[in-house]
Amino acid sequence: MATLKAARISIMAGRFTKLMSRPRRLVSVRASDHLLTRQISTEAESVASRLHKSGLLRTQGLIGGKWVDAYDRKTIKVYNPATGEVIADVPCMGGRETNDAISSAYEAFYSWSKLTAAERSRYLRKWYDLLIAHREELGQLITLEQGKPIKEALGEVSYGAGFIEFSAEEAKRVYGDIIPSPLADRRLFVLKQPVGVVGAITPWNFPLAMITRKVGPALACGCTVVIKPSEITPLTALAAAELSLQAGIPPGVVNVVMGNASDIGDSLLASTQVRKITFTGSTAVGKKLMAGSAGTVKKVSLELGGNAPCIVFDDADLDVAVKGTLAAKFRNSGQTCVCANRVLVQEGIYEKFVNAFSKAVQNLQVGDGFTEGVVQGPLINEAAVQKVESFLQDAISKGAKVLLGGKRHSLGMSFYEPTVISDVKGEMLLSREEVFGPVAPLLRFKTEDEAIRLANDTNAGLAAYIFTNNIQRSWRVSEALEYGLVGVNEGIVSTEVAPFGGVKQSGLGREGSKYGMDEYLEMKYVCLGNMNSN
Ligand code: SIN
Repeated sequence: MATLKAARISIMAGRFTKLMSRPRRLVSVRASDHLLTRQISTEAESVASRLHKSGLLRTQGLIGGKWVDAYDRKTIKVYNPATGEVIADVPCMGGRETNDAISSAYEAFYSWSKLTAAERSRYLRKWYDLLIAHREELGQLITLEQGKPIKEALGEVSYGAGFIEFSAEEAKRVYGDIIPSPLADRRLFVLKQPVGVVGAITPWNFPLAMITRKVGPALACGCTVVIKPSEITPLTALAAAELSLQAGIPPGVVNVVMGNASDIGDSLLASTQVRKITFTGSTAVGKKLMAGSAGTVKKVSLELGGNAPCIVFDDADLDVAVKGTLAAKFRNSGQTCVCANRVLVQEGIYEKFVNAFSKAVQNLQVGDGFTEGVVQGPLINEAAVQKVESFLQDAISKGAKVLLGGKRHSLGMSFYEPTVISDVKGEMLLSREEVFGPVAPLLRFKTEDEAIRLANDTNAGLAAYIFTNNIQRSWRVSEALEYGLVGVNEGIVSTEVAPFGGVKQSGLGREGSKYGMDEYLEMKYVCLGNMNSN
């Protein structure tokens, strides 16, 4: 097992060799050193050795505080989407490992839930401190396995760690209630107690933040967790789990299994010990999880797909609208559930906006996320590029016009040119479904009512954005939009202190903020009788 582990880490270090070998003094690494097997730059050496020293290069699952391989030794490969190279092999786990992880979480629940809120808070605070202390390494892991530019990846670490810090604080504020009794000899009160074992299923687009957003409040409330990170980006999840152990969070409180998604999902759903499923990902999978949770009547929180309208009114400040739309559309190369999916522009500002916006999009530098100045990384894989291509083809065949981009980037791999496309209509796939790529479809509208009607003409309801300088309009339209989040003159609205979540088929429940805590709590009403006796 030790050799297997060393081999995996050697592959990982090798990746840093390639990624980080921009002009620096080259040094020769000891031939005996299994970890670094070729000439690497001093920069790469320090990154790799720091990661290794801090124990953050984890390539096994975590069950009951122990790092384990898949029981049948099967593995899956983790790729760098910018180069196509294999970064590491991780275990391809399934039902048996998941059942053991559930048992560990169930066992740990008894003692973890009995800790005082202050004790759990201290553990979480320590975990937060470690995440921040290892911000750089975690950011590099995110860029490596997910592809987003390093600056954005570092931003994700701060954002992700913020959920742990906030949960540490909020742990101490899980209040109950005393209800005035209608009868003199009774006392009525309400307790809030942890739900129990939580199955947390997370996506590849935010390898850290989507985990901490679920695990932070779960642990704060006294729940224990079985995390299933995306098999595309498991390394950041494993590194975060390692830091949870270093923070002293007891074995079994945080478990991580990855591999065969449907086997793992089925085991989580079938278990009567798992009392809650929390999921971020596609609407199709979310519906399956919701249906599957019915068998054991689990609580569910679902953060599913969006189809965000970004509405630019004639009275908007042009610079603010261009900057905000750019941020809302091109964050993570368009691969977030809250990315603007349709840009609705009022006819009076249309030409000016299209020119300024296209100019700004043209300046977006595409490339490997480790390269200085790059703001657009690759798409996650070939399937993602093919989806973008098919949406574009559909739109063009129905009369849309490509103003900018519209094809794969000359860098190859899964790089795609930042794209602006006009004359988009409501019936095109680009308007109906999430493109999840760097494509900005422009639609023209005449009146406020028309904009609201177009914006709400979808089954999704996660995020919406409006750009206007009219305060009354900003209230009116915010109220009329059937969405869980609205950005007014702002393209990035996510923060750990505000509730994140959608309406309609974009999901159930909220994450982050004080509201996100309730998702991991059950309410218990206690009636104390016979109060008049001594
Ligand atoms: C997501 O894409 O699901 C999350 C985006 C965010 O947290 O801002």
